[in-house]
Amino acid sequence: MTAVLIDCDPGIDDALALALAVASPELDVRAVTCVAGNRPVAVTATNARRLLDLFGRPDIPVYAGAARPLLYPQARTNLVHGEDGLGGVALGVDARQVVADHAADALAHLLLSPLGADLTIVAMGPLTNLALAEIRHPGLLARARSIHVMGGAAHCPGNVAPAAEFNFWADPAAAHVVMTAGARLEVFPLDVTGQAAMTPAWLAALAAQPTRSAQALAAMLAVYGEKDPLLHDACPVAALLRPQLFSGQAGRLEVDWRPGPDEGRSRLHQEGEVNAMLYTGLDTDGLLSLMAERLARLP
Ligand code: BDR
Ligand code: CA
Repeated sequence: MTAVLIDCDPGIDDALALALAVASPELDVRAVTCVAGNRPVAVTATNARRLLDLFGRPDIPVYAGAARPLLYPQARTNLVHGEDGLGGVALGVDARQVVADHAADALAHLLLSPLGADLTIVAMGPLTNLALAEIRHPGLLARARSIHVMGGAAHCPGNVAPAAEFNFWADPAAAHVVMTAGARLEVFPLDVTGQAAMTPAWLAALAAQPTRSAQALAAMLAVYGEKDPLLHDACPVAALLRPQLFSGQAGRLEVDWRPGPDEGRSRLHQEGEVNAMLYTGLDTDGLLSLMAERLARLP
């Protein structure tokens, strides 16, 4: 079993990624940490708590973390996932308190523990919590077995600016800190997540499942603000389960972190020291089959 910490900002596609993770017996989800991203951190943390309860995993601890990016006074949020981040869908579970400790401390605690070298981090939101933990404990992120990141756009247009993807744009300095931390990085940019489109038939099959989890996820997807809903955040989880679904190349990924029109832009260089494996190819049918099979296991 792979020990995993998930850092996220639910977010409808984050919800699907959390569902995939907890429905997969190959993964041992040790903790979920939350960051300001799609919505403010108080909302994303409450959403993560409620989602895990919905999926039958009240035992997984949830920690709230950074409320704003490293360089800016306000969180950069969006309304793609609705005001409450989950499309206004009533989950039918109580909003329990999350753990009081800060997400960056929880992350550091796990990475510094004997489990640290076996821990895989999956980051599906702005990278502020990871960057804060690395700044507090230099060398920390390099301890992880690997860090799977959904973020960036290498050879395709961005989704919030001509060249910038949301997670990197929402905290470009944090993305820079993580890309330069000397960690084993596996990055899933829009180049690959843009191929992870849910088809109408797949969505209809999900909506036909009678479980409370499938019903809630289908209701969220019915109001997802993306034209062709994409499984962005499920990609870095799916790669832990079925690496053969993804193809890419190693290279040097840099993020433009300085404020200005290019901030949040990611560039892949073939020269210089390699810092990441960057995925650009996907077996979409394979991903959709995996998702369907795993989501059917949830309550
Ligand atoms: C990323 O931005 C968020 O809206 C999604 O949850 C995903 O993590 C895609 O650019
Ligand atoms: Ca996300």
